[in-house]
Amino acid sequence: MEIHFENKVVLITGATRGIGKQLARDFERLGADLILTGTRPEQIKELNENLGKNNRKNIKYLCVDFSNEGSLLDFIHELRKYQKIDVCINNAGINRIDYIYDTSLTDWDDIINVNLRAPFLILREVSQLMRKNRYGRIINIASIFGVISRQKRSIYSSSKSGVVGLTRAVAIDLAPYNILVNSISPGFVLTDLTKKILTQIEMQDLASRIPLGRLATPEDISKVVLFLSSDLNTYITGQNIIVDGGYVNT
Ligand code: NAI
Repeated sequence: MEIHFENKVVLITGATRGIGKQLARDFERLGADLILTGTRPEQIKELNENLGKNNRKNIKYLCVDFSNEGSLLDFIHELRKYQKIDVCINNAGINRIDYIYDTSLTDWDDIINVNLRAPFLILREVSQLMRKNRYGRIINIASIFGVISRQKRSIYSSSKSGVVGLTRAVAIDLAPYNILVNSISPGFVLTDLTKKILTQIEMQDLASRIPLGRLATPEDISKVVLFLSSDLNTYITGQNIIVDGGYVNT
């Protein structure tokens, strides 16, 4: 049995770097048509121009900032132009760390808006299309910090616990329509987001505490997303799959 995404339209948020970029690369290789998002207008313009030059009409980048209401609503309207979206991956996410007594309401609003409110609004929209087509695979990228936590993660943990809860509930609403909904909770993945938050020494220390002895690569996460998004997944829904090299059990 092979995984492929020919004739499938796949939406991936936050696809310009890190895990999302890897996902875009893998879905493209497996034949998908792609709707991808990023936040930087210049970069999005350049990416679309390069696609145009190479005649890759099956891929489109959209510029959207989920912490900006107008930008988010424009994006939701844009999605209404599509006849079908077969796979939706809510991957875009941000993290800012602080002790609860030092957090700001601005950070709360930004992180909750990007990590939880935007996926909720996107699912509300995309589920209408999927229901009509009686087909869908939805993956929400959560985090082990939606299940466990550590210091300075009050807002991030709240947002990712919300994503896990949203996944569980939406899976029940959409099950009658052949739409399977799951979340994936990565542990520590070597991306820009991690490098911004952890020092080199913290990363080495972490690696020594992960049973598999290393941080994850974006490929480690992508492989699980590909399976859950594919037609090989016929009976897993409403689950949160932890992909952390064994870390949460230590
Ligand atoms: P990254 O920082 O490398 O990339 C984040 C992506 O989200 C970018 O493409 C960016 O354009 C998009 N994004 C950022 N702010 C946005 C905004 N305001 N509006 C819309 N899009 C925005 O992050 P990474 O590491 O690839 O993370 C991807 C997902 O995986 C996130 O949801 C993150 O919380 C989650 N995750 C990451 C882990 C890690 O160790 N890197 C561990 C567990 C979960």
